Amino acid sequence: MTPPRPPSPEPTEDRIIDAIQPIRAHVLAVGIYHLFDTGLYATLESGDGATTEALAGAHGMDAVRLAAFLKYLRNEGILREDAGHFRLTAKARELHAFRGWYTMFIGGYAGTFMQLGEALKVGASPASRDGKKVGVGANEISTTDTIPLASAMARRHLGTVRHVLDLGCGSGQYLVELCKSFPEARGWGVEPSRGGCDVAEENLRKHGLRERVQITCAPAQEFVKTPVSFPADFGVVAFVLQEILGQGGDAAVEQFLRDAFERFPDMHLLALEVDYRLDDATLMHHGLGLAFYNPYYLLHPFTSQRLEPNAFWESLFARCGLEVVVKQPIDRRVDSTGLVVGFLLRRAR
Ligand SMILES: C[S@@+](CC[C@H](N)C(=O)[O-])C[C@H]1O[C@@H](n2cnc3c(N)ncnc32)[C@H](O)[C@@H]1O
Repeated sequence: MTPPRPPSPEPTEDRIIDAIQPIRAHVLAVGIYHLFDTGLYATLESGDGATTEALAGAHGMDAVRLAAFLKYLRNEGILREDAGHFRLTAKARELHAFRGWYTMFIGGYAGTFMQLGEALKVGASPASRDGKKVGVGANEISTTDTIPLASAMARRHLGTVRHVLDLGCGSGQYLVELCKSFPEARGWGVEPSRGGCDVAEENLRKHGLRERVQITCAPAQEFVKTPVSFPADFGVVAFVLQEILGQGGDAAVEQFLRDAFERFPDMHLLALEVDYRLDDATLMHHGLGLAFYNPYYLLHPFTSQRLEPNAFWESLFARCGLEVVVKQPIDRRVDSTGLVVGFLLRRAR
């Protein structure tokens, strides 16, 4: 016999406020994403306050809806309103450095999270995502953690870089930063999302690097089978092996790595992956564990991606005849969990 259900607490006001805080956080995250994505943030950042009418005119927006959006953000402490002029608050200005997390999780995956219920059913198709926003957001986040690691590892272990290859390059920010760090370097970026390639080309043009870096719109597995006269000495495959693993399983990743080193035998390849530790209670209750890794781990099986623990990758690299020159987590000051790890690989000698 099923025991009788304990009586639900009465929905008194304090309990309602407490129970619906996740809804408030959800809407606020979406609002902050749109503040960035519409360009309103950039306009407000560059000027000294603007009225709803001026912002609506400059952005081709509906003034009534925009007024509701701006006042909503004001009430959440993101904007300040003085005599009808809206300005970013100090809290909003601080958010600038964290834009990438909003681009990736909200722009890229908010639609995915809304498909969870349907996608849970046996035989359901994977949930969709916005691949361009995922790539752009991941690149924005990488600027604070994995790009400095890539640069430092290349300098320490290769001395310099002449031909850098980024497989799954998103918006091309690794190529931008590596070409700045190594002025003699030429680059090649490979990215299957058409939107991502367009953003990468524009990003490289903006940094005056369009002549030094080539972009190919294709899956990395296809690219490494194509003959190219580009003697890559440093390659990056950042959060992309997990994509290939989800798309084609272990065999596809092994084939990809074998083909990559066949084509570029002298390359050092930096593979960045996230250690899969969803059941590690200590890590999952760490601040970043709950704020980042818990939703990050969640979205992978729904979008044909597969995360694995570090030991899985190390054994796969060994099966492909690769040697781990060094294994290093990102800077502890931005992430003390040690979950994001770079493996610098080369052909075993
Ligand atoms: C999480 S993002 C990482 C982007 C970038 N590497 C970074 O670290 O910022 C994953 C990227 O892999 C790309 N991708 C997915 N499948 C791929 C494949 N088979 N070959 C190459 N890239 C792929 C996606 O389009 C996306 O840009």
